Amino acid sequence: MPKKIQICMGSSCFARGNNKNLDAIMRYIKDNGLEAEVEISGLRCCNQCANGPNIAIEGVEYHNVDTGTIIDILDKTFKE
Ligand code: FES
Repeated sequence: MPKKIQICMGSSCFARGNNKNLDAIMRYIKDNGLEAEVEISGLRCCNQCANGPNIAIEGVEYHNVDTGTIIDILDKTFKE
């Protein structure tokens, strides 16, 4: 089963970092050959803008995500 990554694409989250986080996630997937193991989808604003950028992986919500923490989260998800 592919792991589900959901990225808030609402304007607040996107402008405040999910644009870069999305690039970082795509690069991570490519570099680690995980294309078949991941399903990425975008979410509309979920009214948690103040805590954004927001990303959910396998239903677990992560807030204030930046390009450093997303790598830690992905390592935790795929390498542990
Ligand atoms: S834009 Fe992401 S929660 Fe509002």
